[in-house]
Order: sequence, then structure tokens, then C-alpha cells
Amino acid sequence: MTDHCFTCGSRRQFLSQALGIVAGIARPVREAIAVASGSERRYPVPAADGVTIDRGAQVVLVRHQMRAYAFALACPHQNTALKWLPKDGRFQCPKHDSRYQPDGAFVSGHATRSMDRFAIRKESDALVVDVARWVQSDREPADWAAARVDL
Ligand code: FES
Repeated sequence: MTDHCFTCGSRRQFLSQALGIVAGIARPVREAIAVASGSERRYPVPAADGVTIDRGAQVVLVRHQMRAYAFALACPHQNTALKWLPKDGRFQCPKHDSRYQPDGAFVSGHATRSMDRFAIRKESDALVVDVARWVQSDREPADWAAARVDL
């Protein structure tokens, strides 16, 4: 796992601006309500497959085929806020069109790795995401693959 500071200025500022664009495009995306404790965020386990965005933490929470994932909203290529295309069932970057599967796996485009995953675990009826710990698929492939919850 890589320690990461999501409070660093330029990336957070850029994504905050870009989130306004995402909100208008991805209507079927649910808005997350999280309980924060330090770097951790607690979310209710989604009852069905879908995509939920926590704008404050810049986390994309996905339930897909009995697994849950927490992704960084930023595209791994140049940090553009990714969008979910519900009709196509995948993520796409609006800047250079990189495409990703619902589990964050890279499909095509300018990016050179899959979507970055946050550490995630299940506690009772909640998913706990640590936004200070995230992994990149190309640097830590085993940790990236393990950063999920089987439901
Ligand atoms: S910023 Fe996403 S593909 Fe370039």
C-alpha cells in the first residue's frame, strides 16, 4: 500500500472543480453519505450493483457482481475526474477517453494502469475505506487485486 495525501493542493483543487462536471453527466450515479473518522470513511453496503460517488472524499464506491471496490475518482493518466457510463457499464475518462471496467481494470486509452484502488474492508453492515491508503495496479498488482470486499 502507498501512503498518499489527498489534501495536497493542486490535485484536490482540480478534482473539486471537475466534480461539478461529473455531477451533471453521471445522473444515475448515487451520492454517497459517509461517516468520517480520520482518514477512514464508512459507507452502508450497497444493496445492489451500482456506482456511488463521495464528492468530499473523491471516492468512487462500486458494487459489482458481489464485490465492492473503492476507487480514486482521478484518472490514473492525468488526474481528470472519471465518469461512469451506465448504458455501457464502464468508466471513461472525458479527457483522453481511457476506459475501465466496473472493477477498475484498464481496457483502452492513454492511461497505463487500472483505476487506483483504496484500501477497503467490511465491518458489520459498513464498508470502511481508508482514503490515505491506495494502490496502483502497475506498482503493486497483488495488493491492487486484493483491495476489494467479497460480499
Ligand atoms: S486524463 Fe484520463 S486518459 Fe488522459
